[in-house]
Amino acid sequence: MNKKILITGGAGFIGSHVVRLFVNKYPDYQIYNLDKLTYAGNLKNITDIEKKTNYHFLRADIVDAIAINNLFEEYQFDSVIHLAAESHVDRSITNPLDFVMTNVLGTVNLMNAAKDCWKGEMEGKLFYHVSTDEVYGSLHDGGFFLETTPYDPQSPYSASKASSDHFVRAYHNTYKLPIVISNCSNNYGPNQFPEKLIPLFINNIRNNKPLPVYGKGENVRDWLYVVDHARAIDNVYHKGKIGETYNIGGFNEWTNLDLIKVVCKAMDKKLGRLQGESEKLITYVTDRAGHDLRYAIDAHKIMNDLGWQPSLQFEEGIEKTIDWYLNNQQWMDEVTSGTYAKYYDSMYASR
Ligand code: NAD
Ligand code: DAU
Repeated sequence: MNKKILITGGAGFIGSHVVRLFVNKYPDYQIYNLDKLTYAGNLKNITDIEKKTNYHFLRADIVDAIAINNLFEEYQFDSVIHLAAESHVDRSITNPLDFVMTNVLGTVNLMNAAKDCWKGEMEGKLFYHVSTDEVYGSLHDGGFFLETTPYDPQSPYSASKASSDHFVRAYHNTYKLPIVISNCSNNYGPNQFPEKLIPLFINNIRNNKPLPVYGKGENVRDWLYVVDHARAIDNVYHKGKIGETYNIGGFNEWTNLDLIKVVCKAMDKKLGRLQGESEKLITYVTDRAGHDLRYAIDAHKIMNDLGWQPSLQFEEGIEKTIDWYLNNQQWMDEVTSGTYAKYYDSMYASR
């Protein structure tokens, strides 16, 4: 069936993998990638599909309501997969308002435009909001995040995502907007901006720079390969029940320190260094303010109801990830030059 899907944030890390999957897998769908191209958006993430006839790029800011309304009027999208966001927790601590604007106001702008465009004819329409496990807060006493776990966001980033999730549910309840939400754990893989732990540490190891571990490195994250998240989004988009929430995760928990050691070991091998060489770069720095201790997703609902399973074991995923960054040095050099260098100096100088 023909569809006109607006994917927001498709030049970013996860969005680029979602756009690629949809463009290649569904040649009958028209895919519109809307992105502001902030520091985190990079069209070089999707050069392999940019010439496909079912792919279109729209540069716009979701905070600009008029621009978003005009695009809905012009293209008459019948569904939205909304990934555009400010996504880095550390940046949310220094600049919370940017997160309110894009993550909260931007999401509401998109829903207003969809609601006005669809004018109560909601059959076959969908607003799919991509969210995070961080909305549930921090696990201290074991257990897992379920879809029913009460929201308890702890950082400005997670508060902005939680707020947007609430607005999405409110629009479903109030205006009958057909929505679905998924909340995913930490992603890793190719094309992630190197402000995030794994690509940052791969790049620092390669350049023999210190590896800044926050606090004692004992915080736990649940890691999922980004292509498996894109596959889950495909499942939820096509089979998810309207109004429902689906948690997505890989049942793959690591303390930061253990994860960093895996990366160090693999990097020593790939770079032909003595085993233990990269671990010497580990440097303990001041902890992130309000640092959540542990995230862990219970993904049984999406597995049982929609038949999704992660396809990659962590060992294979991390190997592929490291190879991608080492083989794409130009990508890394381009994104780490200029303003990124200033960000890095200011973020880490005071730690
Ligand atoms: P990212 O920072 O890599 O990419 C975000 C994209 O959104 C960029 O292309 C950027 O240019 C675009 N964007 C930002 N502000 C915009 C605006 N005002 N208007 C239009 N475009 C704008 O983020 P990511 O890691 O790919 O995350 C994508 C989504 O998935 C986010 O909503 C995030 O909350 C969610 N998520 C991320 C993870 C993760 O581990 N990275 C896990 C779960 C959920
Ligand atoms: O859980 C999903 C979330 O995962 C997403 O919603 C966010 O968009 C995404 O950025 C990610 O958030 P985290 O804060 O968990 O990711 P980050 O890569 O920033 O950090 C991972 C862990 O590593 C975290 O415990 C902080 C720690 N860390 C991070 C950096 C950048 C360090 O110890 N040193 C660092 O330099």
